[in-house]
Amino acid sequence: MASEHRTSIHGQWSGRMAFILAATGSAVGLGNIWKFPYITGENGGGAFVLVYLLCIAVIGVPIMMAEVMLGRRGRQSPINTMASLAADEGRPAAWSALGWMGMVAGFLILSYYSVIAGWALSYVFRAGSGMFEGATADGVNSIFTSLVSDPERLLAWHTIFMVATMIVVARGVQNGLEKAVRFLMPMLFFILVVLVLYAMTTGYFSVGLNFLFSPDFSKITQGSVLVAMGHAFFTMSLGMGAIMVYGSYLPKDTSIAKTSMIIAGADTLVALMAGMAIFPIVFANGLEPGAGPGLIFKTLPIAFGQMDAGILIGTLFFILLVFAAWTSSISLIEPVVAWLVENRSMNRLYASVWVGIATWLMGIGTVLSFNVWSGHKLFGMTFFDLLDYLTANIMLPLGGLLIAVFAGWLMHENSSKDELHTTPRGYNLWQMLVRVVAPVAVMIVFLNAIGVFK
Ligand code: TRP
Repeated sequence: MASEHRTSIHGQWSGRMAFILAATGSAVGLGNIWKFPYITGENGGGAFVLVYLLCIAVIGVPIMMAEVMLGRRGRQSPINTMASLAADEGRPAAWSALGWMGMVAGFLILSYYSVIAGWALSYVFRAGSGMFEGATADGVNSIFTSLVSDPERLLAWHTIFMVATMIVVARGVQNGLEKAVRFLMPMLFFILVVLVLYAMTTGYFSVGLNFLFSPDFSKITQGSVLVAMGHAFFTMSLGMGAIMVYGSYLPKDTSIAKTSMIIAGADTLVALMAGMAIFPIVFANGLEPGAGPGLIFKTLPIAFGQMDAGILIGTLFFILLVFAAWTSSISLIEPVVAWLVENRSMNRLYASVWVGIATWLMGIGTVLSFNVWSGHKLFGMTFFDLLDYLTANIMLPLGGLLIAVFAGWLMHENSSKDELHTTPRGYNLWQMLVRVVAPVAVMIVFLNAIGVFK
């Protein structure tokens, strides 16, 4: 068994801080600032938020530890990591299928993620040109509508974002990424503080807080619980191997438990702050919390249009949002590129170009789903909705479930103890969560969503 001596052919993080920054860069993204507010709005607020927080704590954190641990032990792309670990532990080679499913999920998510990141990119210029100055809710709404109803413009922004993503991936995620994240994450946080302060001046801050934090369980359905759980995976980048591949570049002596908790905490804080900034604006302007994927683009510009230095703050906000999306998108595709480099002996540049083209093509479906194809629905969902549902609510939790089962039950205790090196109590708690609580919770939510308990 060579696992103690394995090193990654793709390099290693310069230290614990570099890993925390990169993983936080992966976790904090459109999921926190764009998706969390709009799904919270669609699912009635407080009760949904509570379920989401619970999922982060009892499913997200232990599975993140498991995923990082598998990555660091395997030191390769998720497919090869799972194949090696299965061999080490005397388990069926079919476990590499987990890596395959993750690759497909990452590819599908990135295809639409890039389109939404394109919206944010185009808003940098809208904010910068002063277009939001004094704009009404209606004005801001029509600016958004005119963007998404124009497939050519969406395609152009999607293309720019995809190219930017593949440039970083081609250079290797360790180069440059660390430095960018170290500086941009605190900036993003600072701008969110400014937005929350603005939200306090609207006179609707307490209404917003109430919506977010006072749970009304009559407002959630089985479907909402599935969405909340799926989002816990999505926002922490879990269940598809992104965190596994980042874990494979992690130095041996770093504490997996501590770093996972730091990442989860930072990610959750950013999401809650985005919610606290957005909902007061929603209620102050009589907008609809369930407005869907356009929510932040229909609310924040109103605030930028009213506040002092709104042009500057608005432009900065969208720049930072694009960066947050960027550091997330590279992690979505890193498992695929790492695998092509390992198994097809492609160089990184070549692999990145091909993966980029394929993802870009797939993204066209999402571009069209907001305009030309908006009337075409399957199970009541557009192409974009369907991709999002399939990946976030099904593939990621399923991947997470398999990760938990492998790490908790199939890996020998001395392997996981050696890798996690926590206190005995910490280990027992983790083991209980990953063996029982997380898998059972995921199963119950799945079964519930398909109506088994009705
Ligand atoms: N977590 C990111 C966000 O919230 C998105 C993301 C990056 C992701 N890598 C991932 C989601 C891997 C699922 C799996 O925006």
